[in-house]
Amino acid sequence: MIYYFSGTGNSRYVARKLAFQLGTEAVTIRDNLPTSSCRNIGIVFPVYAWGLPKPVMQFIRRLRDAGIGESTYIWCVMTCGDETGNAPAILRRELAASGLKLSALWSIIMPNVYVLLPGFDVDKKEVERKKLAAAPARIDEIAAQVKRREHVTDVTLGSWPRLKTAVVYPLFLKYGINTKKFRSTDACISCGRCAEVCPQENINLADGRPQWGDDCSSCLGCYHACPAQAIEYGTATRGKGHYSGQQ
Ligand SMILES: Cc1cc2nc3c(=O)[nH]c(=O)nc-3n(C[C@H](O)[C@H](O)[C@H](O)COP(=O)(O)O)c2cc1C
Ligand code: SF4
Ligand code: SF4
Repeated sequence: MIYYFSGTGNSRYVARKLAFQLGTEAVTIRDNLPTSSCRNIGIVFPVYAWGLPKPVMQFIRRLRDAGIGESTYIWCVMTCGDETGNAPAILRRELAASGLKLSALWSIIMPNVYVLLPGFDVDKKEVERKKLAAAPARIDEIAAQVKRREHVTDVTLGSWPRLKTAVVYPLFLKYGINTKKFRSTDACISCGRCAEVCPQENINLADGRPQWGDDCSSCLGCYHACPAQAIEYGTATRGKGHYSGQQ
């Protein structure tokens, strides 16, 4: 079984492609947990601030109660815009705290979706196209290695991974998102797409307009999926691009 967390669809796309090739199912981490009889568990998720998204940390902690044995082949795929930083070490540490060992880990570079800080924006169309064109071969490569139950680590750490993660990830966890800054503009057409895509079920429509709760993973799924580009986050999203996402 493959478990995935995805805000804008990259990780869901990778998880579903892998599931197809491996003859298994891809399900979200939200309502699903493996059972003790699982012998092969894949987890696919994006890298956030050179670390792990909060819902993925919570999922790994829930694995503690699932009674998974040491013989289970646990493998992960991190999707990222450029590099993982030291996220692999955080993943290993979290799994170990749940009494589990990571058997294999890969990263795959996908279109970038982070836009909230100055200097960060979606990829130029040409870069996005190149990343998406390269993805299927990378997925084939990963699937072949999972089939052989290989024990490998094949990730793009980038430069200064330990430093970047040590400095930025704790700040991200503490201050990464303030849902009070989200708002819909008058361009909103009340379609409900933002609520539909939110992996945390954190958006409700009131009088046809989105209201954000506090359980936000910072995935930016709502921002990118809005067909009217009517979602803003304070002034941070002013002039920033949108990613059409993977279905
Ligand atoms: C909050 C946030 C933080 C991110 N941090 C990183 C990062 O540290 N390194 C990186 O290469 N990409 C980073 N990205 C880009 C995503 O990892 C990448 O676009 C991913 O494929 C998105 O996956 P999804 O579509 O499944 O949500 C970040 C994206 C978000 C929303
Ligand atoms: S509210 Fe938006 S950014 Fe937050 S988890 Fe939901 S879709 Fe992601
Ligand atoms: S997706 Fe955009 S247009 Fe649709 S309800 Fe949400 S904010 Fe409004």
